[in-house]
Amino acid sequence: MTTVGIIGAGHIGSALAEGLVARGYDVVIANSRGPETLGDLIARLGDRARAATAHEAAEAADWAVVTVPLKALGDIPAGPLSGKIVLDTNNYYWERDGRIPELDEKRTTTTEMAQQHLVGAKVAKAFNHIPAADITTDGAPAGSADRRALATASDHSDAVAHVTALYDEFGFDTVDIGSLAESWRVERDQPAYVVRQNADELRANLARAER
Ligand SMILES: NC(=O)c1ccc[n+]([C@@H]2O[C@H](COP(=O)([O-])OP(=O)(O)OC[C@H]3O[C@@H](n4cnc5c(N)ncnc54)[C@H](OP(=O)(O)O)[C@@H]3O)[C@@H](O)[C@H]2O)c1
Repeated sequence: MTTVGIIGAGHIGSALAEGLVARGYDVVIANSRGPETLGDLIARLGDRARAATAHEAAEAADWAVVTVPLKALGDIPAGPLSGKIVLDTNNYYWERDGRIPELDEKRTTTTEMAQQHLVGAKVAKAFNHIPAADITTDGAPAGSADRRALATASDHSDAVAHVTALYDEFGFDTVDIGSLAESWRVERDQPAYVVRQNADELRANLARAER
C-alpha cells in the first residue's frame, strides 16, 4: 500500500486527497493549524486518510505533495522528505506571498525554490495550472479525444516518470517541460497557465511563453 503525505489541506490538497483515496492510496494530510482542525475533511475522505502534523505527514510518506502558499515553503520539513519524490503545486502570487526578488527578477522559478529548500528530495512541478475543482472532474481515459494535458518539470527523471503515471491515473496526458529551470513556462501569466488544453495545445502554449 502506498502512503502519500500531503502538506497543505486547502483547495488543491483536499482535491488531491479525494482523488488519491478514490484510487486506493493511503493519505496522511497536514495543514498549519494542526490535525485536530481537519476532522471534517478526514470524515469525508474515510478510512484511508488521517490527519497529522506536516512533519508526521512527511515522515509517513512514500511520496509527497507540497501544496501550501509559496510564502510557507520555508516551514516544510526537509529532513523527512529527503530521498522522496515530492510534487510541488506552488505558484507565486506576490499579493499573497509578498515580493520575492529572485522571482520578480526571473532569477529562479517557484519549483527551483522548492527543490532548493527540500534538499535531497526529488521535486517535480505538478498540478500547478489546473483549478482544484477540475482535478477530480476533468480526467478522461487515455486515448480520449481532446484529453486534457498537464505539464511537469523536474531535475530528476524518476520524478517525471512518477508524475506522468499519476497524471494518467487521474485522467490527464503529460507534457514534460524539462528541467526546473524551464518550469517558468507554466507559471502564472504564461499562455499555458490555468487554461484547458490538450497535449498539442499545451506544447504550443509552452513554446509561446515569454519571460
Ligand atoms: N486553488 C487552486 O485552484 C490552485 C491551482 C493550482 C495551484 N495552486 C497553488 O497551490 C498552492 C496551494 O493552493 P490552495 O488553493 O490549495 O491553497 P489554500 O486553499 O489556501 O490552502 C493552503 C493550505 O496550506 C496550509 N498551510 C499554510 N501554511 C502551512 C504551513 N506552514 N505548514 C503546513 N501547512 C500550511 C493551509 O493550512 P491552514 O488552513 O491551517 O493555514 C491550507 O491547508 C498555492 O501555491 C497555489 O497558488 C492553487
